[in-house]
Amino acid sequence: MSYQSARDDPAELPFMDSKLNLESRVVDLLKRLTLEEKFSLCAGKGWGTTTPIERLGIKSLKMVDGPHGVGAIISRLRKCTYFPTAICRSATWNPDLSERFGVALAQEVRSIGFNTLLGPGVNIMRTPLCGRTFEYQTEDPYLNRKMAVAVIRGVQSQRVAACVKHFACNNQETNRGKVSAEVGERALREIYMPAFEGAVREADVWTVMASYNKVNGIYSCENRNLLVERLREEWGFRGFVVSDWFAVRRATSAESCVNGGLSLEMPGKGTKYGEKALRKAFDTGKFTEDTLDDNVKGFLRTMFFVGLFDDMPTFSKGSRNTPEHQALARTIAEEGIVLLKNEGDILPLDIGKIKSAAVLGPNASKRTGFGGGSSMVRPFYEITPLEGLKERCVGKVKVVKDPARADIAIIFAGLSHNILKGLDYEGSDKKSLELPADQIALINDTVMLNPKTIVVLINGSPVTMIGWLEKVPAVLEAWYSGLEAGRAIASILFGDVNPSGKLPVTFPRSLSDSPAHASERTFPGNEKVYYDEGVFVGYRHFDNKGIEPLFPFGHGLSYTTFDYGNLKMGNGVTLGDETLTVSVDTTNTGERAGAEVIQLYVHDVEASVERPPKELKGFKKVHLKQGQKQTVTFTLGKSDLSFWDEGANRWIAEKGVYEILIGSSSRDIRLQGEFEYPD
Ligand code: BGC
Repeated sequence: MSYQSARDDPAELPFMDSKLNLESRVVDLLKRLTLEEKFSLCAGKGWGTTTPIERLGIKSLKMVDGPHGVGAIISRLRKCTYFPTAICRSATWNPDLSERFGVALAQEVRSIGFNTLLGPGVNIMRTPLCGRTFEYQTEDPYLNRKMAVAVIRGVQSQRVAACVKHFACNNQETNRGKVSAEVGERALREIYMPAFEGAVREADVWTVMASYNKVNGIYSCENRNLLVERLREEWGFRGFVVSDWFAVRRATSAESCVNGGLSLEMPGKGTKYGEKALRKAFDTGKFTEDTLDDNVKGFLRTMFFVGLFDDMPTFSKGSRNTPEHQALARTIAEEGIVLLKNEGDILPLDIGKIKSAAVLGPNASKRTGFGGGSSMVRPFYEITPLEGLKERCVGKVKVVKDPARADIAIIFAGLSHNILKGLDYEGSDKKSLELPADQIALINDTVMLNPKTIVVLINGSPVTMIGWLEKVPAVLEAWYSGLEAGRAIASILFGDVNPSGKLPVTFPRSLSDSPAHASERTFPGNEKVYYDEGVFVGYRHFDNKGIEPLFPFGHGLSYTTFDYGNLKMGNGVTLGDETLTVSVDTTNTGERAGAEVIQLYVHDVEASVERPPKELKGFKKVHLKQGQKQTVTFTLGKSDLSFWDEGANRWIAEKGVYEILIGSSSRDIRLQGEFEYPD
């Protein structure tokens, strides 16, 4: 077929035929593009839009943040639902909720006329100080992958492209624009890659965002090993890679990015991907048109996927701020809030017995949606903790200020998105693991006046509680949990909802216990930051070194109790494609309905390399009525036993004995079994 002339009506061209398969449409469109037009597609137009080509009817892709609502900056302050942040959503350990969240978020994206969502963020929580911890999911690669796949499937079910970010190893904000994450292949494979790999292989994600930093000395935006060899060649990625905003500025050259596999520079007209720079590099033979085509193809495929060339009325117009989305935000918050401590069963509060509650603390009236950096959202409304409590207490419990004259005291402490205070904010890391000193003083003073003091934490990253935890009977971790936060917190405090959240990240007692904080070299580094801990990230490190965390990974209490029993393990081996079935009975033995997350960890007892004492390889959340029992079944495969062998450059499951540990948290193992894996 010949190149299209300027007079042709693009509507008549083959690629416009929605009955043709996607690849044929891409091939047809690609051959009609001039080289100059391909160059123009490589850079953006505005802050969130790509360059249109009118001649061929190519409209702009419209990208908006993510990850916990339609981002306020790119959407120009459109009011949208503020969903609980990723750390809270992951604390639900409920992939179904993550998928429903993805669907709802994509509907909100569609409703403002956009088609690409810049999320989810799946960087591993390597340090509890990372300023973007609230935007990320967990320290564990298995949980990370499950949640990422669920969100992406939900988003893309609405024909909105998800953009999994930030690829790769953007695990800190300090020096993010120039630091090189020096990380070994085994840690990359076992810890940092699984969520990205799952996003591609299991969820067919359409977009990946290349991070600001370097990985092993090469900026992600021009890192062929990451963007071509792993993403495309190994995992089969069909979409396109976009740079993080302005991340290309520091890359070496136009050709290094083109050859590295970067499709799109954002935002604006492009620096390395300016048309002149691309033309010059091309004319001097620095890259070929075939290589450029590989990058452009992924971009065109995504355009077809989101329906840019199709009849838009046949696509969902989306919806936002609906009662359904608000209810979903509340459910996620209620399932994600974690009851950390509950001495003497002080919680739930009995609304019939308590006459007055003193409500204190800087976070009682704080709204948290509109802050934190690029992820900030402008919610239609946001119920603060105080508002939620007052609503629940009206006519029953008096909300007062003086803890000495109240039946109980509730302190809303924690952090905020205040950049000046160096807290949970994009672009900088926290300075310390402590709560601000005035809050510690407030807790200590209050508990002297009223021993029935409950601390509710509103924050997006781990904090230490040494110095006050032992004095207070109850602590609730409520995160930044969306526009219904206040109501969700009140429903848990008063027992309308039984808490079921589990920590997706270890809370250390002190910073020096944390694996990334062994030295300046491991955090924050300077030009380079060395991931010397290898695969021993999060609980893998605490277990390995026998360090007692403040609260372990997977921890979270309930108002009821669960019994574990009847562990059964299939035929005792996993071999080749065969799988091992593990089943366990869980019974709600307490006084009320509740949900439990049954966690399965694997331990390779004798290994030729150092392996973590425990690795999460399965989990299931079950909702059980009082007295109800349920059998939960897990299926393990060879990959669940494997480690990455750096010498052989492949996954290996070694012969020998493996332990299966079933627990209510990573440190509350209830049942144990073992089996022998033959060579
Ligand atoms: C952030 C990305 C975000 C982008 C666009 C950058 O500062 O790192 O996560 O998607 O801005 O807002």
